[in-house]
Amino acid sequence: MKISVCGKGGSGKSTMVALLANEALRRGYQTLVVDSDESNTGLFRMLGFKFPPVPLMELVGGKKNLKRKMGQPSVLSETQIAIAHIPEQHILKRDGLRLVAIGKILQSLEGCACPMGVLSREFLKKLTLGTNELAIVDMEAGVEHFGRGVDTSIDSVLIVVEPPLESLNVAQKIHDLASGIAIRNVWAIINKVPSEEIATRLKRELQKRHIEAVGCIYFDAGIFMSSLEGKIPVKGVAVGEMKYVLDNILSKAGLRASG
Ligand SMILES: Nc1ncnc2c1ncn2[C@@H]1O[C@H](COP(=O)(O)OP(=O)(O)OP(=O)(O)O)[C@@H](O)[C@H]1O
Ligand SMILES: [Mg+2]
Repeated sequence: MKISVCGKGGSGKSTMVALLANEALRRGYQTLVVDSDESNTGLFRMLGFKFPPVPLMELVGGKKNLKRKMGQPSVLSETQIAIAHIPEQHILKRDGLRLVAIGKILQSLEGCACPMGVLSREFLKKLTLGTNELAIVDMEAGVEHFGRGVDTSIDSVLIVVEPPLESLNVAQKIHDLASGIAIRNVWAIINKVPSEEIATRLKRELQKRHIEAVGCIYFDAGIFMSSLEGKIPVKGVAVGEMKYVLDNILSKAGLRASG
């Protein structure tokens, strides 16, 4: 299953990706995290790595050469890409966890991020997963990735929703865009709620928009504190809640929850 984690900027996408990846790992899934955000650079640290992987963009000679080199022999020119075939320096490994990054904007005036979108789309399209493998994609904020077709080969979209109305509006837009390209599973995870009352209210607002919530993560001082060091907590309420979220995702996707 390929799951993309989307939502408004700052809603908690990367945090949810890291918590979900750790939970999938705990269950014994071989878990590939795909860092598809061209701006933020800290996902590797949240996942417990000391340095980032060399971006896949380097495999095709950087942004300028993408068009020309995409067809030249490399793992990216294959029709299918298995996790095991991604060259060593482009994939970080910790137990059953894997991390790849598409590419980052590094310099002023280097041009737009469209080549990253093209590479994300092609990589995700060609990525083939075994039965015990999950891919979790940390998307850039907002909805531009739908415009670029990055989500075309995604099975399940997890929208991170936090209290501001604008977050619900982005969720609605993502739901409509995902449904428009026939993605079967589109769910929300409610994040950073300060009280049960607000959680209930947000669930109702999501229902009005025909979006089902698969879980709710409360505002957690532990998460916030860990973020000061660019990390996420390995225990606590949110870690426990993510077990329920993954169970829900797996059973709604028709995959048995495995432990
Ligand atoms: N449940 C939570 N409780 C407390 N703080 C949280 C929670 N979830 C996320 N945060 C904090 O919110 C901030 C933004 O989180 P994160 O970087 O995961 O968001 P993002 O959606 O990936 O942002 P961006 O759009 O910039 O990629 C971080 O400081 C993070 O620690
Ligand atoms: Mg992020």
